[in-house]
Amino acid sequence: MLKDSSLDHKKVRAALTEVRGQVRFDEPMSRHTSMKIGGPADALVIPWDLEDLKKLVLGARREGIPVFLLGGTNLLVKDGGIRAIVVKLTRLQKVVQKGESFYAETGISFPKLSQLALKAGLSGLEFACGIPGTLGGAIVMNAGTREGEIADVLESVTMMDLDGSVKEYPKKDLEFGYRKSKLPQGIIVGALLKLKLAPSEEIRARMDTSLNHRRKTQPLHLPNAGCIFKNPVGDSAGRLIDELQLKGRQVGNARVSEKHANFIVNRGKATAADVLSLILEIRQQVKQEKGIDLDLEVKIVGEDKKNSS
Ligand code: EPU
Repeated sequence: MLKDSSLDHKKVRAALTEVRGQVRFDEPMSRHTSMKIGGPADALVIPWDLEDLKKLVLGARREGIPVFLLGGTNLLVKDGGIRAIVVKLTRLQKVVQKGESFYAETGISFPKLSQLALKAGLSGLEFACGIPGTLGGAIVMNAGTREGEIADVLESVTMMDLDGSVKEYPKKDLEFGYRKSKLPQGIIVGALLKLKLAPSEEIRARMDTSLNHRRKTQPLHLPNAGCIFKNPVGDSAGRLIDELQLKGRQVGNARVSEKHANFIVNRGKATAADVLSLILEIRQQVKQEKGIDLDLEVKIVGEDKKNSS
């Protein structure tokens, strides 16, 4: 049985009648987010291919049902879950090399893409080797590190519009900034990346440095959503939170990491409410003590859990 707040089950089924890919109803998002937190989505779909995705997009439009694209890593899904058809594009993973360029489908993992570039002797994606998540998710938020960001190597982004047609958008039209972009409505299905030939040993050395820095400084052994806050201009959110001695601060099972203060880790059965409460506390303290407003890097989606009575 669907809960009162859920979408009409019949409509969701009607929207998905022609879809061949995997469909699961009332799927807990905690199974699909790097934080291992999040209530159920009305439906989760993994389309088979682009044609299948088009059927889904058109079906959802016909039935008036929202579609939510799940990257899953820089994301906090609330405990009441998501009222939409949630789509994972993990079957879209093809990568085609043309000279010094890659055309990559959106569902490929960022670290895997970075390994493929190394294999091809192409430089430009070394920074991506330790960033979890998919290429599509990375493009939406212009993911990166201090060594580089995806916009540095992007030539164009290919998107499926809400009417199912596929169009290519040059980078200059997409207004990339620090951890942000401005994309037209639709679904990213692929991207053209301009890389550069380089000796493999040099590429590998840069990847090793990046991975080692991450391993040394970030809590990779516990579920997390990457950095919670964006860095304020010229400073580091982690350093600021650390200075306020908030490392180790815990609400429920969510804790400010002792290894890196801009990470919140899930120590067991943490809820989104626990994480949100920590976020609020950190923001208030940083504002009060340092006069700085920290902006969220993590995207928060979904609904609060309704009290069951
Ligand atoms: N620092 C502290 N205490 C801490 C954490 C950091 O004092 O708890 C200090 C460090 O000692 C260093 C400075 O803050 O002097 C910067 O730290 P770090 O090198 O870890 O970089 P960051 O600015 O905290 C950024 C990205 C990370 C990326 C790293 C490595 C943002 C918000 N964060 O972190 O990206 O992995 O550089 O390049 O841009 C992410 O986007 O999810 C993410 C984790």
